[in-house]
Amino acid sequence: RQDEREELYGVMELAVGLYREALERSEEGGAARRYLEGRGVDGAMAEAYRLGFAPDRWDYLTRHLQHRSVSLDLAEKLGLVRRRDGGGFYDTFRNRLLFTIADIHGRAIGFGGRVLDDSLPKYINSPESPIYRKSEVLFGVSLAKGAMREMGTAIVVEGYFDHLALYQAGVRNVVATCGTAMTEGHIKLLKRYAGKVYTLFDADGAGNKATLRAMDLCLDAGFPVHVVELTAGEDPDSFIRKEGSEAFSSRLARARSGLDYFFRQLVRDEGTATVEGKVKIVDELAPRLAKVGNDIERELYVREMSRVLGVDPRSLVRRIGGSGSSVA
Ligand code: UTP
Ligand code: MN
Ligand code: MN
Ligand code: MN
Ligand code: MN
Repeated sequence: RQDEREELYGVMELAVGLYREALERSEEGGAARRYLEGRGVDGAMAEAYRLGFAPDRWDYLTRHLQHRSVSLDLAEKLGLVRRRDGGGFYDTFRNRLLFTIADIHGRAIGFGGRVLDDSLPKYINSPESPIYRKSEVLFGVSLAKGAMREMGTAIVVEGYFDHLALYQAGVRNVVATCGTAMTEGHIKLLKRYAGKVYTLFDADGAGNKATLRAMDLCLDAGFPVHVVELTAGEDPDSFIRKEGSEAFSSRLARARSGLDYFFRQLVRDEGTATVEGKVKIVDELAPRLAKVGNDIERELYVREMSRVLGVDPRSLVRRIGGSGSSVA
């Protein structure tokens, strides 16, 4: 129902206003303000991202909404409050720094809430709701869409703070998946603004997996993808803070195409010293090369990869399914 959706947007706005106020002006918000300062986030950024703070109370938002006669059923649909066993409601977000998640129009549709210390879970996020479909939302898209369109490229990062760090460093064509795997819906969204995507995930096991998944999705969608690699153990936020934005730019400039990145990973993991290793590499590679729509591009990959593997390009072409036959 359209009017329920409008009401849900209204409840989100009330919540954003309350949590913004708590961050900027309340005494309880002091720890969150210091936390942000420690992470290099200034007031202008807090404003642009509509960062907030949920105080350490069970009824901070609940009471605020009750005073305004807002239906708590609506707030529950948004995951902002939860139902108590004995009746009544309590706040979902307590003692957390809040990132406001917005749709392409900049309307608030959810929150990501971070603890201010090392306790777990590090983040809790709004659940899906009638106005928040996770597979179709990328964090920061309303801020980034202009730059994505101008530059024709989009950079995809994992985390909220990664988005902030890049944006603050002047890299504005950036969006974040917020820990969820990239989906076809995300690709559809990116295609509206950009002709090409750079993945820039954390340089750890989870980030590598996310990179390969994104590469496969982009291959299937015929969407050019490049992979930016960071120093092991870093994420974009920590990398920029440690190594600076010039080092970051040079990483960006050295991004490899998704298939090139994938191939190098395979060579590194399997090695080219044994027949088994090479067979395994070709098994992984062939079905992906088959998805490369551009004949010349596929031919160039085939030449380079068969050279490195020491196999006849015609054999590789046969494995691909004959579609790269111009190499033979
Ligand atoms: P990371 O664990 O890489 O966190 O998760 P981060 O973004 O670098 O956060 P900081 O720098 O430690 O503060 C990447 C993203 O995955 C989601 C969040 O969106 C986070 O930004 N995530 C992570 C969750 O939703 N829940 C979690 O418990 C952890
Ligand atoms: Mn719309
Ligand atoms: Mn991570
Ligand atoms: Mn990270
Ligand atoms: Mn981080």
